[in-house]
Amino acid sequence: MNDNLHQLRCFGCGERIRGADAQPNFRCMSCGDLFEVEYPGWSQRQGHDRPNPGALKWLWRERRCSTEALDQSGVWRFRELLPILDSFGNAISLREGNTPLYLLARAAKATGVDQLFAKHQGMNPTGSFKDTGMTAALSVAKERGFAWVACASTGNTSAAMAAYAARAGLRSLVLIPDGKIAWGKLSQAVDYGALTCQLKTDFDGCVRVLAEIIRQAPIYLLNSVNPYRLEGQKTPAFEIAEAFDWTVPDHLIVPGGNLANSSALAKGFRELRELGLVARMPRISVIQAEGANPLVRSLAESGGAELKPMEAHTRATAIRIGNPASWRKAARAVLDTGGWCLDVSEAEIAIAKAELGAEGLGCEPASAVTLAGLKKLRADGKITPADRVVLILTGHTLKDPDYTIDFHRGTLLTEAETAGHEKEIAAASRNARSLDASAEAVLAALKDESR
Ligand code: F0G
Repeated sequence: MNDNLHQLRCFGCGERIRGADAQPNFRCMSCGDLFEVEYPGWSQRQGHDRPNPGALKWLWRERRCSTEALDQSGVWRFRELLPILDSFGNAISLREGNTPLYLLARAAKATGVDQLFAKHQGMNPTGSFKDTGMTAALSVAKERGFAWVACASTGNTSAAMAAYAARAGLRSLVLIPDGKIAWGKLSQAVDYGALTCQLKTDFDGCVRVLAEIIRQAPIYLLNSVNPYRLEGQKTPAFEIAEAFDWTVPDHLIVPGGNLANSSALAKGFRELRELGLVARMPRISVIQAEGANPLVRSLAESGGAELKPMEAHTRATAIRIGNPASWRKAARAVLDTGGWCLDVSEAEIAIAKAELGAEGLGCEPASAVTLAGLKKLRADGKITPADRVVLILTGHTLKDPDYTIDFHRGTLLTEAETAGHEKEIAAASRNARSLDASAEAVLAALKDESR
């Protein structure tokens, strides 16, 4: 049986091609823009390829009790909405997805939003949302007979790619910036057997080097310019809609780095709406770090028509990206859904991360921009107390333990960064103490804490 019902459509000029005809760099031959996967059968209202909403909702729920590996994946459980493989039997899965949606009681109270949730994508097998995209795109690589796959990464993509490649029996090449990458992630890529090259440049420099390699060697590119990644990354939208009994939240808040994830989630919700599974779209807002905010600038300066690359700086290393590939797609996701794009400071990120941690939901710094962004959107009146809001937590707290420890020891932020936030920092960061080895010292700390 051929499960493959897709084609690729250029996001810029609309040109359509067969999936197998894409260039190695996944750029359109006519205009240079990126592609999106589309399913022509869905637009024929009576066509037999068009999925039936009621039947799908039933089928997807049934699969949650199934013992089949494919059904146990939170990505392939929804495979009717990602028919990208010649045979679903070729899918490479680590039981990704099916991540928890947590109620954030304390943050809800503090921000004055009654219904605040965190979709924790850090609870995926390699610790980030990248697994959902990697199971999709790596399965395509395997099916098409590639021996090598590659990515440039700030950490999470490389860990996910290396793990899935290892499961598939493929070799993988990782290019990451020298320094400015969390050790937890580097260790994963090495552990999973990737040829892991630290280059003396930043993420954007790694992307440039990889573009040259792809031209010269038959290696399958697994950065998020690969449109199949987004097919996997759209599935948390299905999980969220299902968790709310096929209604959608009012607002979804997503971190922005290379800017693919926001558009993947928008695509997921758009497809649910087009197929009649939900009635509307959530607003989608993208939050960047102040020192790595090219989309914020683009929307402010040109309404999202142009993006000026910048040199990026932030301790949230996952989103330290100045020349994001998928910025047009992200701008469209924000503008089409009536969301916002804004940036948050290093102190705001660190405080938000500590506050999430204090709810028992550790995440990496890049994920915490969502809560920091929510606070600003609330303060500006853009989100009201009655809105149902979902924060997408993209990565696991253990990716970057140094960051957490430095914050709680008071050595993370500079004086200038701290200025104006002293009270919040004091409230959020009292946890790490070095004391004399005596009961008195610990009891004094306890007393101090209970005051
Ligand atoms: N959060 C985390 C934890 C990430 O690792 C990334 C991206 C993002 C957010 C941003 O998502 O790029 O789709 O806007 N990390 C990439 C990597 C670039 O190489 O792992 P985006």
